[in-house]
Amino acid sequence: MEEAGIVFFLLQFFLLHFLKIDAVELDTISRSRFLTDGDTLVSPTGIFKLGFFQTGSSEHRYLGISYKKIPVTTVVWVANRNHPLMGASPHVLKIDSPGNLLLSNNISMIWSSNTTTASGNVTATLRDTGNLVLMDQNHKVLWQSFDYPTDTLLPGMKLGYDYLRGIEWHLTSWKSIQDPALGKLTWGSDTKNYPESKLKQGKMVKFRGGPWKNTRIPGGSQFQRNLTTELSVVITEREVSFSYNLDNSSFLPRVTLNSSGQLESWMWVEDGKKWQLAMSLPIDVCDTYSICSAYGICRLNRFGQSCGCLDEKRFVPRNQKSWETGDWSGGCVRRTPLACKNGSEGFIKYSDIKLPDTKSTWFNMSMSLEECEAKCLMNCTCMAYANPDVSLQGRGCLLWLNDLIDIRAYSEGNGGQDIFVRMASSDLSNDLFLMQLLFHYAYMPSN
Ligand SMILES: *[C@@H]1O[C@H](CO)[C@@H](O)[C@H](O)[C@H]1NC(C)=O
Ligand SMILES: *[C@@H]1O[C@H](CO)[C@@H](O)[C@H](O)[C@H]1NC(C)=O
Ligand SMILES: *[C@@H]1O[C@H](CO)[C@@H](O)[C@H](O)[C@H]1NC(C)=O
Ligand SMILES: *[C@@H]1O[C@H](CO)[C@@H](O)[C@H](O)[C@H]1NC(C)=O
Ligand SMILES: *[C@@H]1O[C@H](CO)[C@@H](O)[C@H](O)[C@H]1NC(C)=O
Ligand SMILES: *[C@@H]1O[C@H](CO)[C@@H](O)[C@H](O)[C@H]1NC(C)=O
Ligand SMILES: *[C@@H]1O[C@H](CO)[C@@H](O)[C@H](O)[C@H]1NC(C)=O
Ligand SMILES: *[C@@H]1O[C@H](CO)[C@@H](O)[C@H](O)[C@H]1NC(C)=O
Ligand SMILES: *[C@@H]1O[C@H](CO)[C@@H](O)[C@H](O)[C@H]1NC(C)=O
Repeated sequence: MEEAGIVFFLLQFFLLHFLKIDAVELDTISRSRFLTDGDTLVSPTGIFKLGFFQTGSSEHRYLGISYKKIPVTTVVWVANRNHPLMGASPHVLKIDSPGNLLLSNNISMIWSSNTTTASGNVTATLRDTGNLVLMDQNHKVLWQSFDYPTDTLLPGMKLGYDYLRGIEWHLTSWKSIQDPALGKLTWGSDTKNYPESKLKQGKMVKFRGGPWKNTRIPGGSQFQRNLTTELSVVITEREVSFSYNLDNSSFLPRVTLNSSGQLESWMWVEDGKKWQLAMSLPIDVCDTYSICSAYGICRLNRFGQSCGCLDEKRFVPRNQKSWETGDWSGGCVRRTPLACKNGSEGFIKYSDIKLPDTKSTWFNMSMSLEECEAKCLMNCTCMAYANPDVSLQGRGCLLWLNDLIDIRAYSEGNGGQDIFVRMASSDLSNDLFLMQLLFHYAYMPSN
């Protein structure tokens, strides 16, 4: 009996350690079930998998999440971005006794979820959303990969802040197409003012997505004509976040910030067995951050882009000469400076524009537009107001407390919004242009 037991044990040992030909597909990682090279952790319906991968010709190996159900390897999340596993040394992903999800080679720890407070039976599973989740035995989430995005925003993932847990969600590009290490480019919300996404290289803003709003975007191009993308914004004391969802997830939508600084929105086309680019931002030169400076507005025309003042009647270039030579860095100023005497000012409405940078703003999303106007008028530093999110039953107030920068024009119905800009009372009349014309002719010598 004794001998049979030993033989059985040896046989099992042999089978486990030397005949491990087929990669194992796990549905759960626990204290007793590890993930080693070649194994994968698979989501319930097999959309995503977690496993080790290599990029290009490098010897570096990474632990990452990719799609299981498509033939093109597409990595959406990487654990050890800056700490690749080298060479062929054995490595393992396991849950250690304090409850960390731990990636190590035979020598040292490479990456850890740092969740040491957990106790009891901790397990890790991969959800069909692409979220790797570490839970305790009561199914309380201890850690999730969605809280630590790499370069890809999947449906349901968030950008913004979780103030309670002190987490900031943003994308960071790969260093290069072959190297998942942290790149220089980020996409996220950078202020605690009214939230909007900014694409930055280091500290420098390259592109701004515009103030966040709840909206539904019907599909544009031919293959996605019937698709609707829903953008969801949460603005509370606890959380400020942005996320998106598609009404048909079979297209495996994903948004990535690529290593050359372009945001790309992709869909999987089953027929063609390939990824199709649905959208890429920035779109054109008018998306270049603050290209026309303060109170300037960028328009696309047949010859490319051009900067104008927000309104040629009420604004003039700060420096006419350089403006004419195409140096727009001075921006524009009001023809009639604001005096901020009580009752002497009002607002002019501009439509179909991208709302300016929200860097210096104040907001209250329960105020009506009338209350918003009154609030702006009361404060001399308030330069404009708008409702950034018209989906909130007409409520929502955003005040700009500084010069208005990074404005572009959209053609009607293409997502532009209304803004109300503070003006001296003498500039409020819509007949201003007519009056100037009359003056002009009145003082012209008659032939
Ligand atoms: C770790 O792996 C390397 C390469 O396989 C091997 O040379 C080394 O002896 C291993 N070290 C330990 C402590 O197992
Ligand atoms: C975990 O903690 C270590 C040491 O403090 C740190 O280097 C590492 O970046 C942390 N890992 C994560 C995923 O935050
Ligand atoms: C821990 O949970 C896993 C998955 O639910 C289960 O397979 C395992 O038996 C549990 N272990 C213990 C010690 O309860
Ligand atoms: C889009 O929807 C219309 C009507 O609902 C339908 O006739 C058409 O076949 C759909 N097109 C695609 C590509 O699914
Ligand atoms: C989603 O799109 C696929 C491919 O066009 C289609 O076969 C499927 O019926 C759609 N599902 C829903 C819920 O519209
Ligand atoms: C980034 O995206 C742009 C636009 O889709 C593309 O032209 C460029 O080649 C991409 N760069 C990389 C490194 O993938
Ligand atoms: C401005 O004028 C309004 C009425 O015209 C008055 O109610 C308000 O108190 C005045 N505010 C200031 C700061 O003078
Ligand atoms: C926001 O506006 C609502 C409605 O006018 C008001 O009741 C509330 O006090 C305001 N909150 C702040 C912080 O100003
Ligand atoms: C104007 O608004 C800003 C921002 O809310 C505030 O700091 C400032 O005190 C206000 N000024 C006046 C005169 O109300």
